[in-house]
Amino acid sequence: MLVNFTFIGLMAPVFTIFNPDFTVNTDRIPQYANYLLESGINGILVAATTGEGTSLSVQERKNLTESWASAVKTTRQHLMVQVGGAPFPDVVDLARHADNLRVDSILTMPELYFKPKNPQELISYLKFVSAAAPNTPLFYYHNPGHTGVNIDMAEFLEQASNQIPNLKGIKYTSNDLAKGYAALRAAKGKFTVFIGGDYLLEPAFATGFTSATAASINVFPRYSVEMLAAIKQAKLDTALELQQNLTRILNIVTKYGSRVSGLKLAMNLFTPINVGLARPPLQNPNPSKIEEIKTLLEPFI
Ligand SMILES: *[C@@H]1O[C@H](CO)[C@@H](O)[C@H](O)[C@H]1NC(C)=O
Ligand SMILES: *[C@@H]1O[C@H](CO)[C@@H](O)[C@H](O)[C@H]1NC(C)=O
Repeated sequence: MLVNFTFIGLMAPVFTIFNPDFTVNTDRIPQYANYLLESGINGILVAATTGEGTSLSVQERKNLTESWASAVKTTRQHLMVQVGGAPFPDVVDLARHADNLRVDSILTMPELYFKPKNPQELISYLKFVSAAAPNTPLFYYHNPGHTGVNIDMAEFLEQASNQIPNLKGIKYTSNDLAKGYAALRAAKGKFTVFIGGDYLLEPAFATGFTSATAASINVFPRYSVEMLAAIKQAKLDTALELQQNLTRILNIVTKYGSRVSGLKLAMNLFTPINVGLARPPLQNPNPSKIEEIKTLLEPFI
């Protein structure tokens, strides 16, 4: 079975919307999808780090995936679903569920307890995920800061190349851009390497990355959209200034709480989509600081 992957560009790792009682709200998903489309974002990533995927139950993740799959039927956005970070039978179950729904791609974290120690151990794990979703392009989620798994991605791609038929690339979320660049070179047009995160978008685009996922794409989509356009037109000063402003935004947000909860607050303050609070164990910014945060962020809107 030939599995195709053609997406290039910016993908929003969407927030999971919680009601005030911390149950998952799926009602606002169609509106959220439209808002992103109107902001020039044609890719959606569900239940990754920004989407608090590891804070959700299996049934909640299935419900979310079903709601997004239904929303993108109208907006025609690419739908990638993160299925990992759960006990192994649940990962397999989520992969099968996503495959049955015909989502456009799946992304998985590594096993988080019996961690793989080398590329081949990771490949053997991914083969099981691949077998559960054989019709869907598969991506590996490299995020050593959160997972504690730090396998060399260039070596991994070289070794995985002929072993996992539907492997289409990786999401590279690490501040080690030298290793990310090596992975991009190793991908050699056979794999897609998404740069993940908000701090290194400009240097990544400048060194040849063409696809990205970053939490800020939800709240401040114009920064990534304009940065990518500026790099394509060789307007390096503009791209740098956009990155510097984006970094300032992230520094403000993370001073008051976690990156995800701070950006959720910004989303609620500055966009039409109310995504609610972050679910425990994440902590939310102190409500008494909301006006202060708003004032600091306003110049960057
Ligand atoms: C999943 O969705 C179904 C149908 O909409 C609903 O009845 C159920 O409560 C939801 N489950 C969870 C855990 O959110
Ligand atoms: C960066 O932010 C400042 C406000 O602090 C603004 O004057 C400037 O235009 C911004 N630059 C870009 C490229 O958005």
